[in-house]
Amino acid sequence: MNIRNKLLGALVLLAGLVWQPMAAAQAAPPAADAYTKKGADTCLGCHDDESATYTAGALFKGKHAQRGDKRTPFGAGGLQCEACHGPGAAHARSKKARDINTFRPDTRMSLEERNGMCLACHEGTSRTGWHAGAHERAGLACNSCHKIHLDRGDPMLRKAAQPQVCLGCHKAQRTDFLKTSAHPVREGRMACSDCHSAHGSAAPAMLVKPTLNQTCFSCHADKRGPLLWEHEPVAEDCSLCHTPHGSVRNALLTKTPPLLCQQCHSTAGHPSVARTGAALPANGGNGALFVVAGSCTNCHTQVHGSNHPSGAKLMR
Ligand code: HEC
Ligand code: HEC
Ligand code: HEC
Ligand code: HEC
Ligand code: HEC
Ligand code: HEC
Ligand code: HEC
Ligand code: HEC
Ligand code: HEC
Ligand code: HEC
Repeated sequence: MNIRNKLLGALVLLAGLVWQPMAAAQAAPPAADAYTKKGADTCLGCHDDESATYTAGALFKGKHAQRGDKRTPFGAGGLQCEACHGPGAAHARSKKARDINTFRPDTRMSLEERNGMCLACHEGTSRTGWHAGAHERAGLACNSCHKIHLDRGDPMLRKAAQPQVCLGCHKAQRTDFLKTSAHPVREGRMACSDCHSAHGSAAPAMLVKPTLNQTCFSCHADKRGPLLWEHEPVAEDCSLCHTPHGSVRNALLTKTPPLLCQQCHSTAGHPSVARTGAALPANGGNGALFVVAGSCTNCHTQVHGSNHPSGAKLMR
C-alpha cells in the first residue's frame, strides 16, 4: 500500500467518524474535509444529465441554484449539492449510496436530520407550523411532497400537479373529488393548499384560516354578511350543510333538501309537509305544486341569510 492509498484510507475513516456523530445527534458540525473541495463540480463529474431519474439541469433552472442569491446553496460560499445532501467527500471516493444522504428512508441520516437539512434555511417562513402539524407527527419528510430535481419544477408549487401528490396518500379524498359536485381541484383550478397549510397550522384540519368558515369566506365573501336576517347555522359552520371536498348531491350538500333542512326544522304546520303527503289536495294542500316546487329552497331561496327588509323567513 503506498502513501497515497494510506492517506485516502485515513480520509475515508475520518469522514466515517464525522458521519457517525451526525447520525447519532445533531452534535458537532461535520469537519470541513468531510466536504468535497470542488463542490458541485465534483458531483457533476459523475452525476450528469445522462442519468435517468435525476437531471442536474432541472436544479439549475430553479431558485436553489441562483448564484447571485447568497442565501441559496449555490450563492457565494454555499455548500452547493452538499447543502442538502450533506458532506460528500467519502461518497465521491466510494461511489456508494450509503455514504451520502439520499433522502430515502433507508439512508443513514435520520428523518429529523434530513428535514433539518432543509429547515436550516427554511425554518423561518411557512414552516413555523411544521413542528405542530399532523404531517410532522406522521413522519413525513420534506421530500415526501417536494421534488427538487424535477424538470417540470416542484409539484407543490403547481396547482395542477400538487393535488396528485396529496391524493396519492389521501385516498378517501381522491374519491370525494371525483363526485359530481366538487371544488374544481381535478380541473386544476384549485389546489389543496388553497384551503390547507400542508406544513401545519393551529386550525383544525390544518386549514389556512383559524376557522372553517373564515377559510370559506376567503373565496365566498358574499356568504359572510353582515346580514339583516342571518340563518344561524350558516354563521355557525358551513359544514353543517356542505362537505368541503365533494358530494354526490347538488352544491356539495351533505343531504338534499328537504331532508337537509328537516334535520333541524320540524314539518309541523307548514307547507313543507307537502313531501310527506299531508299537503296533498285531499288534505287541503296543493300537492302537485309542491312536487314541482320540490324542496324548501324553492320558497326559502335565501338559505344563507337575507338583506331584504322582509326577508325574515329567508324567502327573498
Ligand atoms: C466518482 C463518481 C461520483 C461522484 C464524484 C459522486 N457520486 Fe454520487 N453516486 C455515484 C454512484 C456510482 C452512485 C450510485 C451508487 C449506488 O447505487 O450504490 C451514486 C449515488 C448517489 C446518490 C444516491 C442516488 C440514489 O438514488 O441512490 C446521491 C444522492 C448522490 N450520489 C449524490 C452525490 C453528490 C451530492 C455528490 C457530490 C458531493 C456525488 N454524488 C458525487 C457516483 C458519484
Ligand atoms: C435544495 C436541496 C438539494 C440540492 C441543492 C441538491 N439536491 Fe439532489 N436531491 C435533493 C432531494 C430532496 C432529493 C430526493 C429526491 C427528490 O426530491 O427529487 C435529491 C435527489 C438526488 C439524487 C438521486 C436522484 C434519484 O432519485 O435518482 C441525486 C443523484 C442527486 N440528488 C444529486 C445532486 C447533485 C449532484 C446536486 C448538485 C448539483 C444536488 N443533488 C443538489 C435535494 C437537493
Ligand atoms: C442553503 C439554503 C437552502 C437549503 C439547504 C434549502 N433551501 Fe430551499 N430555498 C432556499 C432559498 C434561498 C430559496 C429561494 C427563496 C426565495 O426566493 O424567497 C429556496 C426556495 C425553495 C422553495 C421554493 C421554490 C420556488 O421555486 O419558489 C422550496 C419548495 C424549497 N426551497 C424547498 C427546499 C427543500 C425541500 C429543501 C431540502 C431538501 C431545501 N429547500 C433546502 C435556500 C435553501
Ligand atoms: C404534505 C406536503 C408538504 C410537506 C411534507 C412539506 N411541504 Fe413545503 N410546501 C407544500 C405546499 C403545498 C407548498 C405550497 C403552498 C404553500 O406555501 O402552502 C409548499 C411550499 C414550500 C416552500 C415555498 C413557499 C414558502 O413558504 O416559502 C418552501 C420553502 C417549503 N415548502 C419548504 C418545506 C420544508 C423545508 C419542508 C420540510 C420541513 C416542507 N416544505 C414539507 C407542501 C409540503
Ligand atoms: C406521504 C403521504 C402524505 C402526503 C404526500 C400528504 N399527506 Fe396529508 N397526511 C398524511 C398522514 C399520514 C396524515 C396523518 C394521519 C391522517 O390524518 O390521515 C396526514 C394528515 C393530513 C391532514 C389532516 C390534518 C389534521 O389535523 O387532521 C390534512 C388536512 C392533510 N394531511 C392534507 C394534505 C395535503 C393538502 C397534502 C398535499 C399538499 C398532503 N396532505 C400530502 C400523509 C400524507
Ligand atoms: C375548499 C377548501 C378545501 C380544499 C380545496 C381541500 N380541502 Fe381538505 N378539508 C377542508 C375542510 C374544511 C376540512 C375539514 C372538514 C371537517 O372538519 O368537516 C378538510 C379536511 C381534510 C382532511 C382531514 C380528514 C377529514 O376529512 O376531516 C384531509 C386529509 C384533507 N382535507 C385533504 C385534502 C386534500 C388532499 C385536498 C386536495 C386534493 C384537499 N383536502 C382540498 C377543505 C378543503
Ligand atoms: C380558494 C377559493 C375557495 C375556497 C377557500 C372555498 N371555495 Fe367553494 N368554490 C370555489 C370555486 C372556484 C367554486 C366553483 C365555482 C364555479 O364552478 O363557478 C366553488 C364552489 C362552491 C360551492 C358550489 C358547488 C357546486 O357544485 O355548485 C359550494 C357549496 C362551496 N364552494 C362551498 C364552500 C365551502 C363550504 C368552503 C369552505 C369549507 C369553500 N367553498 C371554500 C372556491 C373556493
Ligand atoms: C343550512 C344549510 C346551509 C349552510 C349552513 C350553508 N349553506 Fe351554502 N348552500 C345551501 C343550499 C341548500 C345550497 C343550494 C342552494 C340552491 O340550490 O339554490 C347552498 C349553496 C351554496 C353555494 C353555491 C350557490 C351560491 O349561493 O353561490 C355556495 C358557494 C355556498 N352554499 C357556500 C356556503 C358557505 C361559504 C357557507 C358557510 C358560510 C354555507 N354555504 C353554509 C345550504 C347551506
Ligand atoms: C343545523 C340546523 C339547521 C339546518 C340544517 C337548517 N336550519 Fe334553518 N334555522 C336553524 C336555526 C337554529 C334557525 C333559527 C331558529 C329561530 O330563530 O327560531 C333557523 C331559521 C330558519 C328560518 C327562519 C325561521 C324564522 O322563524 O325566522 C328559515 C326559513 C329556515 N331556517 C329555513 C331552513 C331551510 C330551508 C333549510 C334547509 C336548506 C334549513 N333551514 C336548514 C337551523 C337549521
Ligand atoms: C311553498 C313554499 C314553501 C316551501 C316549499 C317551504 N316553505 Fe317554509 N315557509 C313558507 C311560508 C309561506 C312560511 C311562513 C312565512 C311567514 O310566516 O311569514 C314558511 C315558514 C317557515 C319557517 C318559519 C316557521 C315559523 O314558524 O315561522 C321555517 C323554519 C320553514 N318555513 C322551513 C321550511 C323547511 C325546512 C321547508 C322544507 C322542508 C320549507 N320551509 C318549505 C313557505 C314554504
